[in-house]
Formats: sequence, C-alpha cells, structure tokens
Amino acid sequence: MGVLQDKVIVITGSSRGLGLAVAQAAVVAGATVVISSRTAASVAAAVAALRSAGGEASGQVCDVGDLAQVEALAEFVIRTYGRFDVWVNNAGYAPPYGATMHVSPELFMRAVQTNIIGAYNGSLVALRAFLPAGRGKLINILGRGAEGRPAPLQNGYAASKAWERSFTKALAEEYRDTGVGIYAFNPGMMTTDFLTDLQAVSGYEKGLSAMPTVIRMWATPPEAPAQRVIWLASSATDGKTGLLLKETGPVQILGGAVREGLRRLLRRPAPPVTLAVALIPAVLPLPGRHGPAMGEKT
Ligand SMILES: NC(=O)c1ccc[n+]([C@@H]2O[C@H](COP(=O)([O-])OP(=O)(O)OC[C@H]3O[C@@H](n4cnc5c(N)ncnc54)[C@H](OP(=O)(O)O)[C@@H]3O)[C@@H](O)[C@H]2O)c1
Repeated sequence: MGVLQDKVIVITGSSRGLGLAVAQAAVVAGATVVISSRTAASVAAAVAALRSAGGEASGQVCDVGDLAQVEALAEFVIRTYGRFDVWVNNAGYAPPYGATMHVSPELFMRAVQTNIIGAYNGSLVALRAFLPAGRGKLINILGRGAEGRPAPLQNGYAASKAWERSFTKALAEEYRDTGVGIYAFNPGMMTTDFLTDLQAVSGYEKGLSAMPTVIRMWATPPEAPAQRVIWLASSATDGKTGLLLKETGPVQILGGAVREGLRRLLRRPAPPVTLAVALIPAVLPLPGRHGPAMGEKT
C-alpha cells in the first residue's frame, strides 16, 4: 500500500516539469491524481500517460490566475471524486531575465498573476474545502528569492516567491490548530523547461552565460524533489503544519561545486546542457550597466 493510498491530489501546472513528476510519483504512491494547466492538449496528454501507466487520473484546464477557473477545478474534482485530500500550488512563471523596468508590464504581471494570485486562489479553494472538514494538506511550491534575498534581474520572480513563502507561513500560523496541514517546499534548480527554455530581455542575455555551468553543478531532474512533495502530502507530516522545506542545502551546493571542480581538474568533457534563450525586446533603452551577472554576489 502506497503512502498516498486512496488520497485525491490536485496539482496545478502539472502537464510537465515538477508538477507532472509529482503526479507520476503520486500515482505510484496510490493516489488519484488531478492534472491541470492552461493547455488542453498537454493536460490530455499527461492524463493519458498516467492512465497508460496504470494510474487513476483525470484533468481539467485551469489558469491559476483566474479565480473562477480555480473554483471550477475544485468543483470538477468534488463532482468526480467527492473530495480532495491534497492541493499543490505548483504552477509558476518567471519573467524574462533582465532589469525590472525593462521587462514589459504584461510579462511582469504574468508572474504576479501566476505566482502570487495563483497561490492565493489555490489556497482559497483548498482551505474552503479543508477547514470545515478539519483535514487536508496544502503545499505551496517556492523558488529562488523565497528566503527574502533580493535577486536583481530576476526581481519579478524572486519577489513573488518571497511573498509566497511569507503568505504560506502566515496561513500556517492562522490555521495552526485546525487539523489542516500547510507547507511550503523549495525544490531547487531542476532540469525542466522552466530552467532550460529561458527568456531574456534583449541586451541582458550575457548575464546568462554561466547558466550551463550552474545547471551542471546544481540542477536535478524533477523526480527527486517530487518525492519530497509526496512525503509532505503523506501522513508523515501529520501534526507538523508550517513545515518549510528546501531541496538544496549547503551539502548539495558544495557537492555540485566539488564535482565541477574535479571534472575540470581531470579535464573530463563537460556533460552537454541544452539551453534555449529567447530574446524579448526591452521596453526602455538599456542602461550602461546591466547589473550583476547570474551568480554574482549582491
Ligand atoms: N525548474 C526550476 O529550476 C525551479 C526552481 C525552483 C522552483 N521552481 C518552481 O517549481 C514550480 C514548477 O516549475 P517547473 O520547473 O516544473 O516549471 P515548467 O516546467 O515551466 O512547468 C510549468 C507548468 O505550469 C503550467 N502553468 C504555467 N502557467 C500557468 C498558469 N497561469 N496556470 C496554470 N498552469 C500554468 C505549465 O503548463 P501551461 O504552460 O500549459 O499552462 C506547466 O504545466 C514553479 O512554481 C517554479 O517556480 C522551479
């Protein structure tokens, strides 16, 4: 019997990347999985893949930035399965790499709408169901910036993740003695489209030149962090509301740096990293100095 046997788990942004890896792991752990993202074809493909692997899964299109769509997702799950036990706010978006005011307001707002409003909307519908029942688990997925350290050139993304961490901590305090578990998890760098299909404001792309090395040193496939989400969703965290976990600690950071150092010392070829960077026009003239490069101390 799996650790999520007979549980119903809803994962936003789960047609690929970490969300899909969590869905696959949840099915193996015995759960019924509800897939969602903005794209009907990719939701259908993810559901078909899970079912053909023997999993119980269904899906619905849902843009997390739109409360009506998030409410419709929750209603679909309750209509189909009678309830849900776990809700994972996983959908995330990073605006193009570049100085804040050089990113178009539309793309900046997309991060606000997906990462901030989306986490609020998902938390709202999940807690509306969980609080009256006195049970259920809400898991919010964090990212770079969550610890509150400013991230120049990734400001829209990092500031939204700082908000999400603070929001989750406060929710956990507010609903501490309700029987509902509220958790946050920072999965660290993962080799998903999010990391390897980047956008940069034209003129800032040089700041991404170290990315292949950074990815080689510290990125993991999403399957490993997905297991931590399963653990958070399981009864192992009963009574531990407010847990804030992160996948990458000092040991992983040091390990990645040592591996890369040894590789260079031994003159071993670098494993290939496929990185696509799409250039987005700046909405203001470029300043003389583009700010610190990725990884530079601020
Ligand atoms: N990859 C990393 O290195 C990394 C590091 C730290 C944290 N994270 C966080 O981990 C989470 C998952 O990231 P990932 O790497 O798996 O991303 P990903 O590969 O880009 O996948 C994102 C998923 O979210 C969906 N999505 C995007 N916008 C959405 C919206 N507004 N409403 C609903 N679904 C939406 C996408 O499908 P559609 O486009 O079809 O909607 C896709 O299924 C995010 O919260 C991200 O911030 C990632």
